[in-house]
Amino acid sequence: MNVIEVTDLTKIYDSGLRKGNVIALNKVSLQIQAGEIFGLLGPNGAGKTTLFKILLGIVRATSGESTMNGLPPSNPESRAKVGYLPENHRFPNHLTGLGLLESTGRLYGIPQAELDIRFDRLLHLVDMEKWADTKIRKYSKGMAQRIGLAQALIADPDILMLDEPTDGIDPVGKVEIREILLKLRSMGKTVIVNSHLLSEVEQAADRVAILSKGQVVRMGEVSELTSRQSQFEIEAEIGDHLFELDEAMGKVRLISSDRMTVELQDEKDINYVIDQLRFKKISIRSVKPVKITLEQSFFEAVRGKQEPVI
Ligand SMILES: Nc1ncnc2c1ncn2[C@@H]1O[C@H](COP(=O)(O)OP(=O)(O)OP(=O)(O)O)[C@@H](O)[C@H]1O
Ligand SMILES: [Mg+2]
Repeated sequence: MNVIEVTDLTKIYDSGLRKGNVIALNKVSLQIQAGEIFGLLGPNGAGKTTLFKILLGIVRATSGESTMNGLPPSNPESRAKVGYLPENHRFPNHLTGLGLLESTGRLYGIPQAELDIRFDRLLHLVDMEKWADTKIRKYSKGMAQRIGLAQALIADPDILMLDEPTDGIDPVGKVEIREILLKLRSMGKTVIVNSHLLSEVEQAADRVAILSKGQVVRMGEVSELTSRQSQFEIEAEIGDHLFELDEAMGKVRLISSDRMTVELQDEKDINYVIDQLRFKKISIRSVKPVKITLEQSFFEAVRGKQEPVI
């Protein structure tokens, strides 16, 4: 089931400056399924936050359509079961972590007895029990993001929209946040993470859409976007047999005397390559598809279109 549907969504901001209008989103279409971690990725200014804001009804689209839980942003019910962690948020510094959760819970009209149960559960989930009574001004960035996650979860949403949840956080803090995202998925929640850090999201997301200049340049499962189906790396005792190898095998590149890559027209041809190697009595240790990073995948998609910005 798709919990979010976006069709040909376009947003043109009138910048009010001489440079004219800004096309923040240009006919973006995507679907997000219930229960997945979806990464919305792209460099600064790609349009990620704009897409979140349109879905949440904060900003109006210029054209195109979007729905959450089947409802358009003009219907407040569309975001009734949605938690949101905005980018660059500033929580009131004088509050404690618990105070922040309490004031948010009251805004939602959640009864105190129910809130008390949720505080315990959420503080445990984000590992902030020890810091619940400490003022937010004393929190590190990682702690502020973790309490922000708890705040976004207070009304027990089905969908969580997190805008740059790991921005400015050290590697340990990033791992902790990633673990929380995985826990949320195991609780059946849909998590949409907005980030310019492709390598990080690569490790948690099921599917991603990569935006560049307001357009989707790549979309799919992370494993799909990071493997080159037609390229394989083969570990084998090649030695000086390379020169005897048949060109029909594909484009062969020797990396060392026991490692080579082949680029094939059709991935099924790997069987022919293996047959050829075995025919020459070359002992094979492993055959695996060549992996690339999401970042490489992104650059390949936009090659020639823009300067590297990530
Ligand atoms: N209120 C606004 N008025 C005019 N232009 C805007 C406004 N908000 C965003 N923009 C422009 O729209 C484009 C997309 O911005 P957006 O904030 O959606 O990008 P982003 O992908 O979230 O970037 P970042 O990674 O920096 O958060 C940018 O060129 C930005 O300058
Ligand atoms: Mg943004």
